[in-house]
Amino acid sequence: MTTIEGILKDKINETGAISVAEYMDTCLYHNEHGYYMSSTPFGPEGDFTTAPEISQIYGEMIGAWVADTWIKMGRPQSWQLLEAGPGNGTLMKDVLRTLEHALPESYEGITITLLEISPMLKIKQRESLENHNICWANSLDDISFEKPTIVIANELLDAFPVRQFKQKTNGEYQEKLITLQNGKFEWTLSDETTNLNLSGEVVETSDAMESFLCKLKDKLTNGAALFIDYGDHATGDSLQAIEKHKKVNLFEHPGKADLTAHVNFDNVRRVLGTDRTSFAEPMGQFLNSIGLPLRAAALLGRATEAQKKDIEQATYRLMHPEQMGEMFKVITYRTHAEYDLAGVYFEPQPKSNAA
Ligand SMILES: C[S@@+](CC[C@H](N)C(=O)[O-])C[C@H]1O[C@@H](n2cnc3c(N)ncnc32)[C@H](O)[C@@H]1O
Repeated sequence: MTTIEGILKDKINETGAISVAEYMDTCLYHNEHGYYMSSTPFGPEGDFTTAPEISQIYGEMIGAWVADTWIKMGRPQSWQLLEAGPGNGTLMKDVLRTLEHALPESYEGITITLLEISPMLKIKQRESLENHNICWANSLDDISFEKPTIVIANELLDAFPVRQFKQKTNGEYQEKLITLQNGKFEWTLSDETTNLNLSGEVVETSDAMESFLCKLKDKLTNGAALFIDYGDHATGDSLQAIEKHKKVNLFEHPGKADLTAHVNFDNVRRVLGTDRTSFAEPMGQFLNSIGLPLRAAALLGRATEAQKKDIEQATYRLMHPEQMGEMFKVITYRTHAEYDLAGVYFEPQPKSNAA
């Protein structure tokens, strides 16, 4: 039995069935034994591989997007680059290298902030980013947004705990809860019913994601944000546990497997405001429009045979619709309609009647 399993079972024995969100939150973020608080899960040796860990081209393209956004924001002399949920720090390392080389004047006035809750991952990030001056924060509340700010977040939103609800024949929903039966985790349903403005046999909501986005929207008064995550317009039962690159039973190794849920991008747009948020764009399409194939071609031109294979494989994994290109989506937020962010589409702005 894992330590987290014991903690969850004690909790259920004390207070009764718990929500999926409470299960997920304890498994991932228990302050001592949670998955993210006690392990470094990325890469071939770990449990899963994220886009920045596949190839440096990914971070370079996000760096190019940041550089372009900085220009569109009027080249602020003093500005903040904030990454939320930076994992190993690989994405930020590649983004910063790109800024330093491609647009050094943007790097001169930069404040780099990492929003990270995991003490283990902060150590990794310190190692990856030892050549840069970095500030860390545990919560959005601890970050000043006085300077114009560009936010990037890769696979953050799918790590927020979700609640799950099951539809009854009359259309109302009961919350799916986790209880114990003969000492083992078992699904049950809440007695109370809820009316949700959603449709589907099983639906997911994330209070944690919504409050994060609301707070960000409130605090970010001048800037833009880029979120990349897997998900779609709506989600059904998408919660999954991944260990050593394989799907495992949700109840198998609590605290030792990563738990994620697909992001409902319609919900992200609703919370951030559809007027300020771009449509969810498949990642392959986004990377294509910001120039990944051109960058890959330039690298291929001076690569060894072994490097060529890596570049081709990385491009395929990141962009092909059957790989990450379609399942992952990019969504951006801008505080000012004039910030013409690259690679994404916004709803047309109503025409002003002013002469
Ligand atoms: C799935 S990992 C993605 C890591 C990295 N962005 C990448 O793509 O490789 C999620 C990251 O978000 C962090 N995280 C999760 N919830 C967070 C929160 N509420 N505030 C800050 N960081 C959080 C985790 O510790 C981890 O660094």
